[in-house]
Amino acid sequence: MSLELLQRPRRLRQNPLIRSLAQETDLRAKKFLLPIFVCEGNGIEKVHPSLSGCVTRSLDRLIPFLKNLEAQGVGGILLFGVSQKKDEGGSEAIRKDNIVVRSIREIRESCPQLLVGTDIALDPYTDHGHDGIYRNGVVLNDESVQRLCEMSCLHAEAGAHLLAPSDMMDGRIQEIRESLDEEAYQNTLLMSYTAKYASCFYGPFRDSLGAKVEGNKRSYQMNPANRKEALRELELDLSEGADIVMVKPASHYLDIISDFKERSLIPVAAYQVSGECAMIELGAKQGLFDRDHAIYESCLSISRAGADLIASYFASEIPRILAKMDLIQ
Ligand code: PBG
Repeated sequence: MSLELLQRPRRLRQNPLIRSLAQETDLRAKKFLLPIFVCEGNGIEKVHPSLSGCVTRSLDRLIPFLKNLEAQGVGGILLFGVSQKKDEGGSEAIRKDNIVVRSIREIRESCPQLLVGTDIALDPYTDHGHDGIYRNGVVLNDESVQRLCEMSCLHAEAGAHLLAPSDMMDGRIQEIRESLDEEAYQNTLLMSYTAKYASCFYGPFRDSLGAKVEGNKRSYQMNPANRKEALRELELDLSEGADIVMVKPASHYLDIISDFKERSLIPVAAYQVSGECAMIELGAKQGLFDRDHAIYESCLSISRAGADLIASYFASEIPRILAKMDLIQ
């Protein structure tokens, strides 16, 4: 017996060819950025125990790895410095020849097809673990912005294509843009961490940096309860001259990604942070689900919500996973 149905949504799901045809969201390796941790020294390659994609390397180990990443067609990297030299003001961040500056130069030379983005914040270099200058229990906004401007010009001079301020200080996008333009770095992109939440999911990242935070970051990172406030930050960053706006973390903040997509005419990025990735890794290790499938589905969802590009510790595995998932439509 057949029902007289006018609508049969299942028609579009009946076989792999039709399912592919009807697929609304596609992932591409070029749209992924891999967070990279670089430290001083030689022969260092330290993998985070809970997250295989979160690795701290010395520069000699980094270059061969990045040549391979480039060959696979991954879009680019987000570079973070890991440093033992920590003080109150994060002075290592603005030392002319620090490990990040040297890395930018060498990566640009060795990997011409890789987009080089760098993190702009002081936390790898401060002894209190805050992203800005911290005095008497307060993170000082305007002094921190000054320092971030210096850090930005240093990275731009070394050849970074894109700078990603992750500090959440007020007004830093405008000030950094002005500093860059004054030094004739008009073409250096600014990807703002526009809505960065005070999340517990940054755990493995802080481990890798050796960053213990005095207190917490709630006086500058956003309250996870707030959605309207993210729109305010978006409005500000758009008016201050951001080229790309980012939401972070990603998977638990899909509503924010979707809001951003709807309200901005520039690309929206999302950062699948260390804790999100580690949960997938550990769940798969426990046999709860298939690892590749979980990575694919989580990134697909972030993209479906509206992210044009994704920073993820799984970025280096995306080309392999996409090829595999194409076969099991
Ligand atoms: C800080 C920064 C953090 C991350 C990127 N930049 C952590 C923090 O705010 O404490 C988190 C990334 C991750 O968890 O993967 N500048």
